[in-house]
Amino acid sequence: MTGSRGSYYLALKQIAKAANSSLSLRKIFNSVAKSTAKALQANGCRILLLDPPKKYLITMGSHGLSDLYLRKGPLDAQKSLPEILDGEVVIIADATKDKRVQHPEIAQAQGVSSILGFPVLEKEETVGEIRVYTREPHQFSEGDTSFLTSVANICAVLFEKAELHQFLAQNHEASKRQARADQAPQLPTTSLRPSEFAHPSEDDFARLLDFYRIEWLYEPRAFPLRWNGNDIAEMFTPDFYLPELDLYIELTTLKQDLITAKNRKLRRLRELYPEINIKLLTKNDFIRLLAKYGYGPLGEAKIEGVSRILYSHAQIQRRVRALARRISRDYAGQRLVIVGILKGVICFMADLMQHISLPVTLDLMAVSPYESDGEVVKITRDLDSSITGQHVLMIEDIVDTGMTLNYILSHLSAHNPASLRVCTLLDKRARRLVNVSLDYIGFEIPDEFVVGYGLDYKGEYRNLPFIAILRPEVTKEDDAEAQPGPSDAQH
Ligand code: IMP
Repeated sequence: MTGSRGSYYLALKQIAKAANSSLSLRKIFNSVAKSTAKALQANGCRILLLDPPKKYLITMGSHGLSDLYLRKGPLDAQKSLPEILDGEVVIIADATKDKRVQHPEIAQAQGVSSILGFPVLEKEETVGEIRVYTREPHQFSEGDTSFLTSVANICAVLFEKAELHQFLAQNHEASKRQARADQAPQLPTTSLRPSEFAHPSEDDFARLLDFYRIEWLYEPRAFPLRWNGNDIAEMFTPDFYLPELDLYIELTTLKQDLITAKNRKLRRLRELYPEINIKLLTKNDFIRLLAKYGYGPLGEAKIEGVSRILYSHAQIQRRVRALARRISRDYAGQRLVIVGILKGVICFMADLMQHISLPVTLDLMAVSPYESDGEVVKITRDLDSSITGQHVLMIEDIVDTGMTLNYILSHLSAHNPASLRVCTLLDKRARRLVNVSLDYIGFEIPDEFVVGYGLDYKGEYRNLPFIAILRPEVTKEDDAEAQPGPSDAQH
């Protein structure tokens, strides 16, 4: 594989033309891949973008590669030729034997013999890759490197251009919403949307996932379902893969009779690939799901008070498990009394205790809320059992001014426990008035009023499975009471 000056020149001319055309993003990148492969006399080429958390490589365009090869599963950036991420050029002489190749069996089936990986750099940071594939072992010339450097530079500019386009489109949408509802525009939470969707419902679903900060990949894997001899006769490509949940999602807005055919495919997929977790979302499921989270025709009012999600359910669960592991290590060989203050702590406490691998007993307290009427804080529910000589861990939902915790800690210390420590899910350090020491902290959060996962505003929102920031308009009317917040009988 090697090009000539003439072929480089011709390819760069075509690439520059496509880059400055009004073609869709996918077509531009397909065209770049095609010109690149031709110039290098290679059999295939693929242009990949690194997703913002730098976990996965997303195919932006390709040439000469089969669907099966392109959709062989999520391409883990840290596992699939990670040297390219460090800015190195990688040459794989034999893709079927090299340990760096994630799916060698598929490379073999596709007749891919050699791979050349080239970084796409944006101001010295790797933002993507160009991969070139050949069926024969290749010779890699200096001319090829300098040609690929130019293609990579053009790709970097194209990525930036696409990001800008998407940002402008989202802002345009947001300002339309603002004009409609006189609400503050929501800032986009993700950067470049890696794919163009085949159907508008997929776009809606991707937005929903973005809003809930759930990571997603679009059509990363095609599953062969039937074979004709050695040839694949039928394949199935689920729409989404959600890595955090290890779940594939197929959306369908089809009529019932067509859904039956899809269900048949899914059954076959489950038979052939029992380790794969896949769900079919019908139009009704989808509308109900949107409604559950306050979107779509059924759900407009449900979470209208929520401005943005701070931590998704999956992020909270990960953090809670990590805290429980640390607590289990620190108290190894001891018995532990965990004490929570009602009501905000219920979700956190329930999840945390399930992951603590020690003998644990549980107690709950409640205090009167701050009423600004000169009354002092009172314990409205005290401990059921004595804590004298016991190792006590106080569990809090959120520490804000620190006044509640300070009061409770002095009450508990008076009972002479063997030790007394504090574990809080959220630490709103910026508002601290009383210095209390916190031993275990889930997340440090900004000075915003948050709800969900047990936390309330005027008794509501506790049942949201995530932690979200309330829209300022919601708390504006009674700002004076809004901090510390809940106005019902217990925290
Ligand atoms: P502190 O005494 O100011 O630290 O307040 C602690 C209590 O105030 C917590 O246990 C919560 O019940 C409540 N609180 C403080 N900030 C928030 C918030 O952002 N959302 C919901 N409740 C809050």
